[in-house]
Amino acid sequence: MSPSHVCHTETANERSCGTCCCATVAAWDERMRVILDLCGGTGSWSEPYRQAGYDVRLFDLPNDVRLLKFDAGLQPHGILCAPPCTVFSYARNRYEPTDAELLAALSVVDACLRAVVMYRPKWWALENPRNKLRRYLSKPLATFKQWEYGDAADKATCLWGSFNVPMFRPAPRRKASTFRTRRQNADPEDAITPPRFARAFFEANP
Ligand SMILES: C[S@@+](CC[C@H](N)C(=O)[O-])C[C@H]1O[C@@H](n2cnc3c(N)ncnc32)[C@H](O)[C@@H]1O
Repeated sequence: MSPSHVCHTETANERSCGTCCCATVAAWDERMRVILDLCGGTGSWSEPYRQAGYDVRLFDLPNDVRLLKFDAGLQPHGILCAPPCTVFSYARNRYEPTDAELLAALSVVDACLRAVVMYRPKWWALENPRNKLRRYLSKPLATFKQWEYGDAADKATCLWGSFNVPMFRPAPRRKASTFRTRRQNADPEDAITPPRFARAFFEANP
């Protein structure tokens, strides 16, 4: 062991040197890390965490996030939130959402934020396409277009929260924009968190 090596017994959060017993302890430590993936759908955003052995807990309907009870034993390391965007979409400018629709949509967003308040994780992020949610959550911490992380589409997406913003890894856009077309936000697969963004987010927020 090098003289500069910091042992896990000295600081629990220190990353492993990879060459001593700390490697085993670090791998064990990551497996013990709970990630909440709220409104997680396919689980695409949390998939890199799952692959790395984290304990990912995905909540989606019929498990309503608004009914999530506080679990003192859970202590999530990170919380990902991807509440539905349909009501906030600019594609709906043709007809403004009713107050009842807004209340229902905001209640899902609020429930995600309640989990953040309850658990105070090391990092958390809430994503939504760039849309009317900014009226309620204020300025996002980051905004990206999917191709800026090497994914296919353009779709501008906002991220609120407390996390390390991943470095861009741009690649040419491979999918035509649906902005201001009848197809905007129409395809369910467009709601899936793009995999290269998910990977970049994971690497910036282990
Ligand atoms: C924008 S999609 C998220 C998609 C996800 N990022 C993915 O990669 O598949 C929103 C998700 O929220 C879920 N959802 C809607 N209302 C919910 C609620 N009250 N509780 C939990 N999940 C909900 C939907 O079923 C949907 O999967």
